[in-house]
Amino acid sequence: MSSTVITGIGELVTCDGTGPDRLGIKRDAAVVIDDNLIAWIGAAAEAPAADTRIDIEGRTIIPGFVDSHSHLVFAGDRGAEFAARMMGKPYDGGGIGVTVAATRAATDDELRRLLAARIAELQALGTTTIEIKSGYGLTVHDEVRALQIAGEFSGETTFLGAHVVPAEYAEDRAAYLDLLVGPMLEAAAPHARWIDVFCEPHSPHAFDAEEARHVLTAGAAAALGLRVHGNQLGHGPGVLLAVELGAASVDHCTYLDHTDIDALAAAADATVATLLPGVEFCTRSPYPDAARLLAAGVSIALATDCNPGTCYSSSMPWVISLAVREMGLSPAQALFAATAGSAQSLRRTDIGRLVIGNRADLAVLDAPSYLHLAYRPGVPIARALDLHGIAH
Ligand code: NIG
Ligand code: FE
Repeated sequence: MSSTVITGIGELVTCDGTGPDRLGIKRDAAVVIDDNLIAWIGAAAEAPAADTRIDIEGRTIIPGFVDSHSHLVFAGDRGAEFAARMMGKPYDGGGIGVTVAATRAATDDELRRLLAARIAELQALGTTTIEIKSGYGLTVHDEVRALQIAGEFSGETTFLGAHVVPAEYAEDRAAYLDLLVGPMLEAAAPHARWIDVFCEPHSPHAFDAEEARHVLTAGAAAALGLRVHGNQLGHGPGVLLAVELGAASVDHCTYLDHTDIDALAAAADATVATLLPGVEFCTRSPYPDAARLLAAGVSIALATDCNPGTCYSSSMPWVISLAVREMGLSPAQALFAATAGSAQSLRRTDIGRLVIGNRADLAVLDAPSYLHLAYRPGVPIARALDLHGIAH
């Protein structure tokens, strides 16, 4: 394997946990990459020789974004649903069935091509790790093929057969749950690292606390890590269930009370609250108070939730700008949450922080500092540094 030295770094943001804002910023630094790993970080003047030299001419280097929540394997279009929502129609999860029908009707190659295009898009916006959920198949065959196709692009795959009860089981939820925790889980588990459930009593399509517990317990018995969609459409049981069962992450957290916040703070080493401000934006929902969560001691992450219903954006820089503008985070807190925080939500220590021995997943900003991520909303200043392609 050849080595590469990156020089000309105006600002190196390591997110290594040091310094007042945990960003571990270094100036006039260089980075040496060897065998896809970070081999050396230090003063540019002392950089060792390497096979290749990349001069980034004063730009900023940050850890590649870790997008720890997405639903990227799907076909079909729901632009009209978004337009209706902007005119006041509320979101209740019912549109998921539209995507399920379109996804089931698509060929493997169509799904693979659509996913590849979405991966290219997010990589061009600075993301180097992407978690991908199934959940638009909802048959044994369609869930397994979604996970297999997702697995061609990422090791962070999540079985979400418990997205909604599909239309053909609307009159017999118990039968769908039996399928889900039985043959579907058995077939899906070899292709997934995680299991997730849309725990949402406010949606007639999703799962209540008892159903969600059943799904997660079965997933844990199948050696899958736990993730939960919780407290998205109203206050509900998802956060407390996630904490009780030791889930790595509970995602959305749009509606929280003090009991939820206390539980998340007490579980900060185990369960991360993953905030998805793009969803609040695209569903006209209130933003959770992320600053309050941090002050209480909660571990937080930021992710896109890129999906055709509640947020069809794969842009982590946009998520950071929303988190700063609407959720009370400083630019530093938002960047940390989108890198080291979201790595924690995937229980990964080898990504999200630029330290020796970690994966060389870097993003470059066409800017003199990371502040421009929030300062220049909508401007494509970030991209994954193209050394080895998207991280697996
Ligand atoms: O995370 N809440 C459930 N699932 C997705 C939305 C899926 C869809 O509407 O297609 C979410 O918001
Ligand atoms: Fe989601």
